[in-house]
Amino acid sequence: MKSNITWHDASVGIEHYRKKNNHHSGVIWLTGLSGSGKSSIANRVNQRLFERGVQAFLLDGDNVRHGLNKDLTFTPEDREENIRRIGEVAKLFAEGGTIILTAFISPYQADRDQVRHILSTGDFVEVHVDCPIDECEKRDPKGLYKKARKGEIKGFTGVDAPYEKPDSPEIVLHSDRYDEEECARQLVSFLESKGWI
Ligand code: PPS
Repeated sequence: MKSNITWHDASVGIEHYRKKNNHHSGVIWLTGLSGSGKSSIANRVNQRLFERGVQAFLLDGDNVRHGLNKDLTFTPEDREENIRRIGEVAKLFAEGGTIILTAFISPYQADRDQVRHILSTGDFVEVHVDCPIDECEKRDPKGLYKKARKGEIKGFTGVDAPYEKPDSPEIVLHSDRYDEEECARQLVSFLESKGWI
């Protein structure tokens, strides 16, 4: 614990925000390989929630690395720090009554678990966007797999850096079998079934 720092309790807390918004708040954490469809699915879910008047927000890997985390690389240590910061930011959003969708590869189970543990039980939904690497590589929307195979990118997830599949995610979206719209529909209906919205 840092010295000379005092925690201030706010008079307006998470339950007030949830009551005002009339829905739950928390973190919907999408994890999966590059090209699995995380960002596109999260974007569609965010759009659907917005249209329903839900207070939702999307934090996306590439975008966050342009600002908040632009000092970080793709070493295991920097990926851990990336996820730690995102987790803390996501927690703040959740405390303010928002359903926060995040789309990061987040390849390590320990880093994802760390985020789960800083949130209250039930406020973290781990979503595995499950797509075999062959399919991700076939899609290769940014040409990154091609570069990684040629050795132009070192430590690329799934090629020469690991991806640890979630041990027990709340939901798995098979983005090789279903299109983005159907995956988004499945996630929204999961949130409905859990009483989040
Ligand atoms: S992580 O592992 O969670 O810290 O990564 P993340 O912040 O989600 O960033 C992933 C995006 O960065 C691009 N990129 C790489 N991905 C994986 N490995 C390496 N070495 C790498 N270098 C750059 C890539 O565009 C990822 O975006 P997505 O949307 O996942 O394809």
